[in-house]
Amino acid sequence: MNIAVIGTGYVGLPTGVGFAELGNNVICIDKLSAKIDMLNSGKITIFEEGLEDLYHKNRSEGVLKFSSDIGDIEWADVVIIAVGTPTHPVTKEADLKYLYQAAEDIAPHLKKYTVVAIKSTVPVSTGESVEKLIAKMNPSADFDLVSLPEFLREGFAVYDFFNPDRIVIGTDSERAVLILKRLYEPFEGKTKILVTARNSAEVIKYASNAFLAMKVLYINEISNFCEKCGARIEEVALGIGLDSRIGPKFLKPGPGYGGSCFPKDTLALANMAKRCNVNLHLTDTAIEKNEQRKIDMAHRIAELVPDGATVAVLGLTYKSGTDDVRESPAVDICRELLRLGVALRAYDPKGMNNAREQLKDAVYYAKNPYDAAGGADILAILTEWSEFAKLNFRRVKAAMRQAKIIDLRNLLARDQVEGFEYHRLGEGCLESEKMREQIAPIN
Ligand code: UGA
Repeated sequence: MNIAVIGTGYVGLPTGVGFAELGNNVICIDKLSAKIDMLNSGKITIFEEGLEDLYHKNRSEGVLKFSSDIGDIEWADVVIIAVGTPTHPVTKEADLKYLYQAAEDIAPHLKKYTVVAIKSTVPVSTGESVEKLIAKMNPSADFDLVSLPEFLREGFAVYDFFNPDRIVIGTDSERAVLILKRLYEPFEGKTKILVTARNSAEVIKYASNAFLAMKVLYINEISNFCEKCGARIEEVALGIGLDSRIGPKFLKPGPGYGGSCFPKDTLALANMAKRCNVNLHLTDTAIEKNEQRKIDMAHRIAELVPDGATVAVLGLTYKSGTDDVRESPAVDICRELLRLGVALRAYDPKGMNNAREQLKDAVYYAKNPYDAAGGADILAILTEWSEFAKLNFRRVKAAMRQAKIIDLRNLLARDQVEGFEYHRLGEGCLESEKMREQIAPIN
């Protein structure tokens, strides 16, 4: 099948490469010609585990091409729109300017029956608006406008592409369903392919992300509780996760959720619902409390050191396995620490360049974790990079002014950090007799 993917970001590029690997002819189109020039010269533009090899393989086989000419969609049976939908600065909903631009650009080039699928995360009923826009611009266009939400995690996009939990196709058109079922044939029997109304598919995407965000917020709250009542969060998470109705995933406490999706999508969902006169109280609370959590975490670090101290920060990306620092709790924590007058020495295996754009010269960007630890009063682990768990902690200790670690990802084992004052999340001792009395059974 001939596929055109518009947008070569964290969603578009893995999607294009993935469909090429499944045996389709793919052209990835982007307005930014600098990106296309790079991709055409054999240089990949984003870091995603496993993507580079598949990109080179399919490019050399001639089934994966790149172009900045939108006219190239004319050849495609399916056009997948995967442009960004960032938070609109005023409405706080998804900003659809890139999406509408893409729809306007493709409209004149729809010269045979084409399935136009929106993979970008868009507010409910956007599909309808885009359909009307294209039909208005090109009344003779023969097309179906489908919602095809993506559920790829950054850092695992290639894995998730080939191992989806489900595929959601939002359309009432049988013709479009037939074509998309052919496209997704390799997944037949392995995963559920769900055909829904277009609006339902659009809501599924937001409701999934908001639910997962709330799950993270929930475990963070339970983690706070464990610290005060003498329980251990890992044991509690394991115990509740074994209930198949709850499930074991997304129960890791941390410094708050971040990234380009959860913060943006929860905000967009809450605002979208308000426009429909519905209050999504749980989503509203998740947004507010997640912001507060990042501030609380910065204060928790600052309280462990004297005024004017130096903090070694390990991890700047919003999670491991990516170079992305958008809405990263680590970056927000750094900002708050700087505001509190703390000096920062930071290191991240992949996110240094992106973090530098955000934090500018306010931070010393270390060459490696040991350099970050140099003269620091505390080492704060903010992102769960596995290489941080493999450090030589004797060397770390020798470099630091004080032997103190705060591990906001519960990455380290206690025996690794012997000789350090070590703090982690969700592990409390009963602070006082009074507290013991308070939580003791009544009889
Ligand atoms: C998320 C969803 O997981 C994907 O299904 C979805 O396709 C994607 O958004 C999107 O809308 O494009 P992603 O943003 O890559 O994917 O990141 P996640 O792995 O879901 O993590 C989100 C945040 O939650 C991170 O900051 C992570 O550290 C945090 N998190 C996650 C926790 O603190 N604890 C957990 O147990 C899980």
